[in-house]
Amino acid sequence: MTSESEKIAAYWSSLEPDRDSTGSFYISPFTVEYKNRRAFGDDVAPDRISDETLALDVFLRRYASDRPIRSILSLCCGFGKVERYVVKRLKTVESCLGVDLAEGALREAARRAASEGLPIRYETADLNNYKWPVEAYDLIIANGALHHLTNLEAVMPGMRQALRPGGVLYCCEYVGPSHQDQSARQVELINAAKFLLPDELRELRGVPFLGGGWRWRIVSKAANLHRKTKPYRRHGRYGRSWR
Ligand SMILES: C[S@@+](CC[C@H](N)C(=O)[O-])C[C@H]1O[C@@H](n2cnc3c(N)ncnc32)[C@H](O)[C@@H]1O
Repeated sequence: MTSESEKIAAYWSSLEPDRDSTGSFYISPFTVEYKNRRAFGDDVAPDRISDETLALDVFLRRYASDRPIRSILSLCCGFGKVERYVVKRLKTVESCLGVDLAEGALREAARRAASEGLPIRYETADLNNYKWPVEAYDLIIANGALHHLTNLEAVMPGMRQALRPGGVLYCCEYVGPSHQDQSARQVELINAAKFLLPDELRELRGVPFLGGGWRWRIVSKAANLHRKTKPYRRHGRYGRSWR
């Protein structure tokens, strides 16, 4: 493993995505409706089980229900939430392999799958340099995965090679600049806009100011310290009111 891969593995072994995802684009109530309407049109009501799984639910009903899906590959699977959900929903599945760099996350994913008696196993590997099998899977899941990979020139043909004829790819991705791609001026404007939001609309866990400059770090610390001294009452995941 390179030192870069080690850093990625350590980071994602200790952080389970979406546990407290007030800001996650996958399930934020501010984006979920818009995102799903853009992807699937207005008629998503019959597919809706929950906001968090809506994209998967639409996919499973429209594209997976008329195919016998026996084998699944889940890329950058992390703690394995997505493949566990899919395997439970599809009664035809015989085997599923989750691949990720983060060994710690995979250990926990394997424990959870075993405790639910699901036919899922895990492999630690760097998907940027992966030995893709030939026509091995009926479904490949890439949930929040591809934007973590740099060697897409090898990953895309690899996925195609690994799919059986008639196989399907489920891909749900953030597409857009990462914070390192934004100019200093853009970062400044985003940070300034955060001050304009009323306190109760900001994230519960504090104001995550962008950029690494020392000025912003001081402002961010001061703002969050001030917030911590004000007691508030929590209403579900997103709501908050001051006592
Ligand atoms: C945002 S998490 C997505 C987790 C999971 N797909 C989900 O939806 O909950 C991104 C994952 O990509 C993994 N990852 C990043 N770079 C990778 C690489 N080169 N090879 C394999 N996995 C990688 C990380 O370890 C992390 O678990």
